[in-house]
Amino acid sequence: MKQKIAVFASGAGSNAQKIIDHFRASEIAEISLIACNKPGAGVLTIAEQEQIEQVLIEREQYKKDGYAAFLKEKGINFVVLAGFLWKIPQPLIDAYPRKIVNIHPALLPAYGGKGMYGAFVHQAVIANGEKQSGITIHYVDEHYDHGDIIFQATCNIEPGDTPEQLAQKIHLLEHAHFPAVIEQVLQQH
Ligand code: GAR
Repeated sequence: MKQKIAVFASGAGSNAQKIIDHFRASEIAEISLIACNKPGAGVLTIAEQEQIEQVLIEREQYKKDGYAAFLKEKGINFVVLAGFLWKIPQPLIDAYPRKIVNIHPALLPAYGGKGMYGAFVHQAVIANGEKQSGITIHYVDEHYDHGDIIFQATCNIEPGDTPEQLAQKIHLLEHAHFPAVIEQVLQQH
């Protein structure tokens, strides 16, 4: 039986697209659901084009059980956060122990926590004169950007690099590694 993955995303969805592409012909897993909390987000267009079921997350229900019951009903066995910015509520963590992974666009534990997402991360990294940044893929627990780290990859920051240029480097790293790391994690389950 193929594992059923739900991808939670709030943005353009470039990572979601890479994950969909990676598992398109897979025998171990399929992307069965795209969950998004932002009407009009690019990832919803991707879901439509790919003919993947989508759900627009509504705050009240999310706070109640994180859509855990809905995901179980759909037979979802693994959750991937790919640019999803809301904290994961405890009932969802309890429903999917060590079965929720997140990608963060920096080398955790540095540059993580509330408010550290997307462009804000890259601005802070550049403002602090860092020579390196990177990506972190980790299990999700009840704290922001905190669970056990599964994988990290780094990139160099050249003098004069802008936050936008760093964002591009980070996206390349994410696209190169995230789908394969998800597959590795799935194979351990
Ligand atoms: C990615 O860079 C991801 O690491 C980041 O949002 C971006 C989504 O891009 N996530 C966070 O900042 C989580 N704290 P995408 O919509 O093109 O995949």
